[in-house]
Amino acid sequence: MTLEPDGPADPTIRYAVVWKQRPNLLSTLPNLQAIFSIGAGVDHIFNDPGVPKVPIVRIVADNLTQYMTEYVVWRVLDHHRQGFRYREQQPKKIWHEPWQRTADEVAVGIMGLGNLGRASANALKMLGFRVNGWSRRAQQADGIRTFAGQDGLVPFLNATDILVVLLPLTPETTGIVNYGLLRELKRDTLGGAILINAGRGRLQKDADIVRALDDGTLKEASLDVFEIEPLPEASPLWTHPRVFITPHAAAASDPNHLVVPMLAQMAAYERGEPLQNVVDREAGY
Ligand code: NDP
Ligand code: OXD
Repeated sequence: MTLEPDGPADPTIRYAVVWKQRPNLLSTLPNLQAIFSIGAGVDHIFNDPGVPKVPIVRIVADNLTQYMTEYVVWRVLDHHRQGFRYREQQPKKIWHEPWQRTADEVAVGIMGLGNLGRASANALKMLGFRVNGWSRRAQQADGIRTFAGQDGLVPFLNATDILVVLLPLTPETTGIVNYGLLRELKRDTLGGAILINAGRGRLQKDADIVRALDDGTLKEASLDVFEIEPLPEASPLWTHPRVFITPHAAAASDPNHLVVPMLAQMAAYERGEPLQNVVDREAGY
C-alpha cells in the first residue's frame, strides 16, 4: 500500500518515509526536512532524479542485522556441510558420507564490511571460519583479515573460498559480481568457489553466474537478490541444480522495530539534535 501526500506541495509534510517512491514526488514538498528509507539500502531513493537535497536516513536496526546474520550463517553452513549433495542423494536413497572439511580450512570473504557485513563476519568467525572482509576504506576488525579498495580486491578474492556479497548498490558497485571477478576466487579448497549474494541484484550479472556455475568456476550459489525482481520465470537460475533461491527475503524490514526509532529521530531532529545513520550522498550509501 502506498500513502502519498494529499496533493503536490503539501506544506504540512516535514518527513518522508519511503521505499521506491514515485519519481519527483518528494521534490514537490516545500517543507521536507529529511527522508527516511524503509530499507538499509538506499539505491531505490537515488533512482528518483528529483530527490531533494535534505538528509537521507537509512535503517540500522538490531533485528534486521540479526536476520541478515542468520541468513548468512545459514547459507554458509549449508554450503560448507554439503546440503546440495545430501539433497541430491536423498531422493535416490544414496547412503554416502562425503569427506567433510572443518570450518578453519575454509575462508569466507565478505564484500561490504558495514553494519551487516561486520555482524555476519563476527558470527562466522565464532564458528571457526577464516574470515576476510573487503570495504571501500581501510578498516581493522579483530580476527578478520581486511582488504580495501581496488588494490585490495584481487588479493581479497584470491584468498576467498565462499564469497558473501553485502555491498550497497552504487555507481561504483553496479555489476561488480561478474565473470571476471568470480574467476579470481579460490577454487582448490572446495572444488569450485561459492557465491552468496544478499546485497542487491544489480551488483551481479545473472548470466555470468550461470556461466561460472556451468564451467566449474562456481560450485554452488545462494542468491537472495537478482538483476530483475521478481526473478523472471524464464531465468535459468530458477532450475539450476546448484542454485538456492530466496525471494529478496534475507532480512526484511519489520515496521514494529522501525516506527518507534524513526519517530524518536524525528523528535530529536526537531529539538536540534543531529540525525543518525545519514547517507553519504557522494558515496551513494
Ligand atoms: P553499510 O553502509 O553499513 O555498509 C556498506 C559496506 O560496503 C561498507 O563496508 C562500505 O565500505 C562497503 N562499500 C560500499 N561501496 C564500496 C565500494 N565501492 N568498494 C568496496 N566497498 C564498498 O550497509 P549495510 O551493511 O547496512 O547494508 C549493506 C547492503 O545490504 C544494503 O545497502 C542493501 O543493499 C543490502 N540489504 C539487503 C537486504 C536483503 O534482504 N537482501 C536487507 C538489508 C540490506 P566502507 O566501510 O569503507 O564504508
Ligand atoms: C533493505 C532490503 O535494503 O530489505 O533493507 O533490501
